[in-house]
Amino acid sequence: MTAATIDETTATGRVVWFTGLSGAGKSTLANALHAELLARGVSVELLDGDAVRENLCRGLGFSREDRDTNIRRIGFVAGLLAKHGVTVLVSAISPYADTRRDVLTGLPNALEVFVDAPLEVVTGRDVKGLYLKALAGEIPHFTGVSDPYEAPTTPDLHLRTDRISVQEGVQELLRSLGEA
Ligand code: PPS
Repeated sequence: MTAATIDETTATGRVVWFTGLSGAGKSTLANALHAELLARGVSVELLDGDAVRENLCRGLGFSREDRDTNIRRIGFVAGLLAKHGVTVLVSAISPYADTRRDVLTGLPNALEVFVDAPLEVVTGRDVKGLYLKALAGEIPHFTGVSDPYEAPTTPDLHLRTDRISVQEGVQELLRSLGEA
């Protein structure tokens, strides 16, 4: 019997990489898109920063080195899944432009999605109460406050979450994926 082989040309999935500040709406959009794609029968997986850091990247902190390791590990797993036809949604701050570029370049059909809202807006939202602590100096190296966030200059999609609804964001994402 011949072992089944994967035709990597047709099986190649897509990677949608959400980057942006904490509280910008990466996970919200990724979860909403995940639900929509699942409902359409798309084979889709979500790699979310928080869950990844509890498992695959447990023990990593927020130094540049650890963030880069985090992003490279996520990229590695996303690549494996995409190779098998899975659409992979990645939600991670991924603050460093050159690391993002490096990882995304190595992925098939990757879309860089800049989930953007001004610092005043995400600070105001402060869903997890982290900005309050960061601004009080209680969390060192907090992205956007005391650590850099290098915004994409030419993202595939730029979503201003202070201007559009989650549903509008999902529609734009579906259009970019050719699923609208
Ligand atoms: S990174 O930079 O891509 O490796 O970060 P990520 O894996 O996405 O993790 C970001 C979440 O960790 C929480 N957190 C911090 N974020 C930024 N800076 C510091 N110092 C920090 N400490 C903890 C924060 O809740 C982020 O969650 P999100 O989902 O982005 O809001």
